Amino acid sequence: MTKTLDRIKQEVLGCTKCPLSEHRKQPVFGVGSINADLMFIGEAPGAEEDRTGLPFIGRSGKLLDTLLFEELNMDRSMCYISNIVKCRPPENRDPKPEEIDSCRPYLKEQLGIIEPKVIITLGNFATRLLLETKTGITKLRGKIYEYSGSSLIPTFHPAAALRGRKGVLEAMRTDFRKAKEIIYG
Ligand code: URA
Ligand code: SF4
Repeated sequence: MTKTLDRIKQEVLGCTKCPLSEHRKQPVFGVGSINADLMFIGEAPGAEEDRTGLPFIGRSGKLLDTLLFEELNMDRSMCYISNIVKCRPPENRDPKPEEIDSCRPYLKEQLGIIEPKVIITLGNFATRLLLETKTGITKLRGKIYEYSGSSLIPTFHPAAALRGRKGVLEAMRTDFRKAKEIIYG
């Protein structure tokens, strides 16, 4: 029998498969609707996510909520939001390849259950993992890819937009509108 999301969540909450388990306050499994048409995949929890157990609730999350509302007229309860790595790396350092590798089965299981119409990967780490490439996000974005029956739209991480790099926010808006077209036709 296939595992339920709840069962996978219980596994993640007790997971010690990689060294990130030693530093976290708690794992951040993911939230949202099991019937979501749209799934966001970010990088790793930050300080506020680690403290609350909820993904994307800091500054990046606020921007994500804004774009979701302005471009898709959705709120986060209508989608599903998770990360490639479920535990916060110390000092928000980049997740290491072996940590990403240890954690990826959980994301694969989440994707297999939710089967969203559209996946938006946020930033380099999520995009490279799902597309199995070393190419950077600037090159990869602007196209729609296929991932196990879902349309995959790579875009920048909201943190990149918050750093104020020119064109990033507008590119994200364009990518979000593509998701809307696929979902609503
Ligand atoms: N950045 C991410 O990639 N994920 C979060 O959950 C929060 C910030
Ligand atoms: Fe387990 Fe993933 Fe946390 Fe590592 S990051 S301890 S693999 S849940």
